[in-house]
Amino acid sequence: MNKPNNLESLWMPFTPNKTFKKDPRIIVKAKDMHFTSDDNRQILDGTAGLWCVNAGHGRKKIQEAVTQQIEELDYSPPFQFGHPKQFELANRLAEIFPEGMNHVFFSNSGSEAVDSALKIALAYQRARGHATKTRLIGRERGYHGVGFGGISVGGMVKNRMYFGSMLSGVDHLRHTHNPSVNAYSHGQPEHGAELADDLERLVQLHDASTIAAVIVEPIAGSTGVLPPPKGYLQRLRDICTKHDILLIFDEVISAFGRLGKATGSDYFGVTPDIITCAKGLTNATIPMGATVVQDYIYESMLENADAPIELFHGYTYSGHPVACAAALATLDIYKEEGLFEHAGEQAPKIEKAAHSLKGTKHVIDIRNLGVIAAIELEPRGNAVGARGFEVMKKAWDLGLMVRANGDTLAFSPPLIVSDAQIDEMFTTVKSALEQVD
Ligand SMILES: Cc1ncc(COP(=O)(O)O)c(C=O)c1O
Repeated sequence: MNKPNNLESLWMPFTPNKTFKKDPRIIVKAKDMHFTSDDNRQILDGTAGLWCVNAGHGRKKIQEAVTQQIEELDYSPPFQFGHPKQFELANRLAEIFPEGMNHVFFSNSGSEAVDSALKIALAYQRARGHATKTRLIGRERGYHGVGFGGISVGGMVKNRMYFGSMLSGVDHLRHTHNPSVNAYSHGQPEHGAELADDLERLVQLHDASTIAAVIVEPIAGSTGVLPPPKGYLQRLRDICTKHDILLIFDEVISAFGRLGKATGSDYFGVTPDIITCAKGLTNATIPMGATVVQDYIYESMLENADAPIELFHGYTYSGHPVACAAALATLDIYKEEGLFEHAGEQAPKIEKAAHSLKGTKHVIDIRNLGVIAAIELEPRGNAVGARGFEVMKKAWDLGLMVRANGDTLAFSPPLIVSDAQIDEMFTTVKSALEQVD
């Protein structure tokens, strides 16, 4: 096993480098539901890595597809040339995404999928003769990755405050979190559909003729798991339709079975104009993102945008053949093993196990939907996030990977999670909570 003897040169992302390097958590292997640490302990993966290893770790079928692809065609340029698997993958995604969403633009991450969606929205509005529609609307507490587009429409303060003025012409809806009436909701909270009307306020302020698109996560993840209030997404859809504003669902975490369906749009029964996805698309084996659009967007661009290149946008690795091979094998696994359906079956068990922690030390709220749960802790005085961080570390010592978003612990295990592993996740975290001040 590889034990690095010098941790100095690496600048780790979204990590307190100083603290980590004094007390590192090193992962050397993974299989199915478990990581192996460098001290040879089995760690139950309660987070599917970063919400991305939906089919579990070390899947042979993906490995073989990737190996074969590297042998056959390691790379081909995506501008002006094509390779068969990127067309095949786009067709396969069109089959499982909502009706009418049959066109796919590939990238390499969730952040790039978001940037691509925002650029497509702006270019589409211009091409169809609505060139004044340039404003983008996000939502407070939203997370849309780390590109300048994504942080501009995003609404998590630490992701924004260090990076200057970002994109201009952006505004934000209010977030939907209201624990005073919704604490300990099982699944979608009852209260808050009317918060979608905040879009009407922004239309009053800016006028719809200046607004290109609204982007939201159908279920907010990185901010600490906020399922949408019942009726909220439909109301947002209706207001967008009424004012001719595009609706973008950022499904980087909610697509590919997390809610028991191929997409969150399918689960909620609300269809946007554009969906972004990544993560579970390749089971995280190879980086890949995708932006999936309604036919009318693609057709309008081909008809109305400047010729000959309709969209001046793309990445060296758009539709990389190895990523396509990994994604196709991943989609096969999801289908052959009925993993979205299995996720749907595990959802009520996760709900029950998560809510059984009500009353445990430090717990002030519990939220869940699909194969997602969150336990919010009371912050320790002014040290916001300190308790969450310590519980995450304690859980690691006890053999569980859980994510701490500030003082909210987030659970999003691979969809293959068994009943016994669900119990183990919440028993371990209960024990961690009891051991931390
Ligand atoms: C909703 C959402 N959008 C975008 C992203 C960014 O994805 P990536 O880290 O692959 O750039 C994430 C990552 O967690 C996400 O949750």
